[in-house]
Amino acid sequence: MRSSVVLLLLVTALVGCGGNPTPVGTRVDDIADKLGPDFELAPDAFSPDAVNFMIVGDWGRNGFFNQRNVGRAMGVTAAEIGARFTISTGDNFYTAGVQSIDDPKWDRSFEDIYDAPSLQSRWYAVLGNHDWQGDYTAQINYTEVSDRWFLPARYYTEIIAVDDTTEALFVYLDTTPLSEREPNARKYERTEDWNPDRQIEWLDATLAASEAEWKIVVGHHPIYVGSVRYENNPRLIEDLVPILERHGAQVYFAGHDHNLQHLRPEGSPVDYLISGAGSLTRGVVPTENTLFALRVSGYMAASLTRDALYVHAFDEDGRRVYATNIPRRRLDTHSDREISDETDLSDPEIRRDLEAATTDDGPRPGGSPSAERRAGCASSGPARRRPAGTASVRRPCTPAGRSTSPPGGWACRTRHTPPAAPPPSAATVGAASGARPAPPTRRRSGRGAGRPSE
Ligand SMILES: [Fe+2]
Repeated sequence: MRSSVVLLLLVTALVGCGGNPTPVGTRVDDIADKLGPDFELAPDAFSPDAVNFMIVGDWGRNGFFNQRNVGRAMGVTAAEIGARFTISTGDNFYTAGVQSIDDPKWDRSFEDIYDAPSLQSRWYAVLGNHDWQGDYTAQINYTEVSDRWFLPARYYTEIIAVDDTTEALFVYLDTTPLSEREPNARKYERTEDWNPDRQIEWLDATLAASEAEWKIVVGHHPIYVGSVRYENNPRLIEDLVPILERHGAQVYFAGHDHNLQHLRPEGSPVDYLISGAGSLTRGVVPTENTLFALRVSGYMAASLTRDALYVHAFDEDGRRVYATNIPRRRLDTHSDREISDETDLSDPEIRRDLEAATTDDGPRPGGSPSAERRAGCASSGPARRRPAGTASVRRPCTPAGRSTSPPGGWACRTRHTPPAAPPPSAATVGAASGARPAPPTRRRSGRGAGRPSE
């Protein structure tokens, strides 16, 4: 009976996506053959010049349920691609977050698991619903005592330099309040800090003000999804999708569903990727939006260049099970005119539209980021957990230029060039020292609020 159901789901997936060469619900070991003759694996992807990074979510289970295997495979892949940082899509600690920066889960589920030298660069984290069942401020405060954990606020941004003329704005959201809206004090701690409308306004303003060529948004809850447990999230579709599309976001990374998925509704300018398979898995149910869905423990690796974001998915053994190329859609979001290399910029009508869109901020399409925005952030060396009592030497970024962040959020307006992965011999694993971190120090006033005041 069970095998019949599995077979039926598989057939449904294949029929429902007829003509689509991408795999749905199947393990693919030879990507080049299975993706079809028109798919190119993009030989320039994951080059040392690209911004290569890892994406993993829903992992914190003390190493059990495949978490340790995934962490080990991530270490290998991260070394191979020279990953500059890792994105955690939330549900960082099961089942109820952490209670303090001294919570044993920090070692059991994070420091002792992701101990490969290649994974010692910064981890940009978001909060998941399970993290809200603990004290979320502990995860924010851990930013102060770890040289790689980075969660400066419930939601925040960072700008990454892709090359001399290309920037990527990464927006990290706190989607539990957005998805659930009504505080559930019996289920979550500190729901008095929720203010979903304020965060949505912040997202709108942040994306609107950004001139970055890439806009990548990360949240825990999927907007579009198909699985045995979750369906599309109508609240997020209503509140977030118009903002993402209006301001030219190209990609939304999520977790929450314990599998690997790639979805794109017909006609959507946004690609939706789910990497929530850091430990336990959950069955997939492909929908009309599904390009790829696979129940497997694993993770994703991405390579960001000026013109494309390459995303590959891997299982717990480090085998690549999916690959996709997401082109940068050069959409001038103020005039809604799409700009390509073939666009005739001498056309009076086109020029009128563009000029109307650039009266405040100077030339936009193809223009170079301002010197102000090019101000560099100090990059960290090999990350490690600091011994107790030592001061922070890492300054992830320094505020510069106008801020798009209201008190409810935190934004880094400076360019940040993530360091390349450290050589194995140069990295240390802080947890090995057994030292407990020092209490969090107060942030310097110039760096902005460590957490929202709402
Ligand atoms: Fe979740």
